[in-house]
Amino acid sequence: MKLNALTTTPVSEVETSALAVGVFTDKELTPAAKALDEVANGALSEILQSEFKGQAKTHIVLRQLANIKARRIVIIGLGEKKKYNTKTHFEAEKQFAQYCVDANLTDAVSTLASNDCAGSSLRVRARAAAQALLLSTYKYDHTLSKKADPIVLERFGLWVSKTQQAEAEAGLREGQALGEGQNLTRLLADLPPNICTPTYLGEQAKQLAQTFPQISTDVLGEKQIEALKMGAFLSVAKGSAQPPVFIEMKYTPENASDEDPIVLVGKGLTFDSGGISIKPAQKMDEMKYDMCGAASVLGIFHAIARMGINRPVIGLIAACENMPSSTANKPGDIVTAKSGTTIEILNTDAEGRLVLCDALTYAERFNPATVINMATLTGACVVALGHHNSGLFSNNERLKNELLEAAREANDPAWPLPIDDTYQEQLKSNFADIANIGTPGAGATTAACFLARFTDKYPWAHLDIAGTAWNEGSNKGATGRPVPLLFSYLLDQIDE
Ligand code: BES
Ligand code: MN
Ligand code: ZN
Repeated sequence: MKLNALTTTPVSEVETSALAVGVFTDKELTPAAKALDEVANGALSEILQSEFKGQAKTHIVLRQLANIKARRIVIIGLGEKKKYNTKTHFEAEKQFAQYCVDANLTDAVSTLASNDCAGSSLRVRARAAAQALLLSTYKYDHTLSKKADPIVLERFGLWVSKTQQAEAEAGLREGQALGEGQNLTRLLADLPPNICTPTYLGEQAKQLAQTFPQISTDVLGEKQIEALKMGAFLSVAKGSAQPPVFIEMKYTPENASDEDPIVLVGKGLTFDSGGISIKPAQKMDEMKYDMCGAASVLGIFHAIARMGINRPVIGLIAACENMPSSTANKPGDIVTAKSGTTIEILNTDAEGRLVLCDALTYAERFNPATVINMATLTGACVVALGHHNSGLFSNNERLKNELLEAAREANDPAWPLPIDDTYQEQLKSNFADIANIGTPGAGATTAACFLARFTDKYPWAHLDIAGTAWNEGSNKGATGRPVPLLFSYLLDQIDE
């Protein structure tokens, strides 16, 4: 798909199948809507007097307006003007993009990003527009006997003023890379666990290295993981017939600086049954999504390689299944992590921290500037924050604030939760250095505190995406979060 910035003036001269303009509930027309209204003899304001109120998530289509070259005007409701923000802008772009996809249009132009909104730049709005468009083209059909209709949308324009053109182009390029990356994350996550196995994730990582010359991938098998003494990770993997893999991806920009890398670590449980501490049957299918942290590492690698960002990034994925069997972890087992720490496994369902702790120790070898891990780690995080915010934990105040800012900019919200040392007492074991579950209370925090025991050596943040990585119910499907958050964070790092 071709995305570009368009500066045709007046806007009534834009030739396209569909032109999106916004209006607020206050009956206020945006400048583009106003310009069209004037040449079309008040056709837009007339609609606002009657059937269209400008509410967010609504739109109306006008065709063949006098003196207007576009074949359709799609009026998008933007809601109240004083509440208009990056989120409502993103929703509005998504609505228009969905309309274009559903109507099988081959080309379209949006003026929505040209409207200022609180706390955003045009570049970020253009990024959001392209991202929204790409997200609208995702339709899962990998395991359907009847494939989805192909997307025919070929050209998408963003209408802006001449002075904004370069900034808009830059934002569009970013948004396209982001949207593609996010769709890769969604697809891997939505795939069933009998297809998306640890081995499959390894193949996908190798595929990325094939596609992008700046990416190199190493997929380590069981023997190599043993040699690395990842005893906690292996203890989870050994209950399954599917062999584990440890994936190491390196993104090296063309003009590589000698900056220390940012390391991203993903939890890659391609299925989490709970193991011997087995989960209830209801909704257990959703535990195919327990690899969403890993899928977000692959998605972000796709996005940054496509962009060619100038910053070295390392991606690490610990992938396995958590299954009950005679070789599985048992409650009471004690294992030794790569760091030498002994862990008493009191609940085999608290396996995410077991695979992550060894990956986090492995990360030390890169002398990282920052380590960020993504994990569908705890049901407790969903209890605490629901499905809007990812849980954010960090041992570094500055990193935490940078991630919060990136989350806001990307419409991919996160909320800080505590990891004070006092919670560490909840992880005490009588028989090992640490237990893998805490005493009752603050379950998302005790899980993060467990990880914190392995991250002393670098600035570190943990995103608990248990509530945000997928939607449940009739809209069940992966969201591709927190790829937007990470993408904004990485772009902010090179701007500095
Ligand atoms: N993958 C789950 C966390 C999870 C549960 C994410 C539900 C999304 C929805 C994780 O491995 C897990 O089972 N955690 C346990 C920890 C507990 C045993 C301390 C949990 O949250 O119940
Ligand atoms: Mn579990
Ligand atoms: Zn899990």
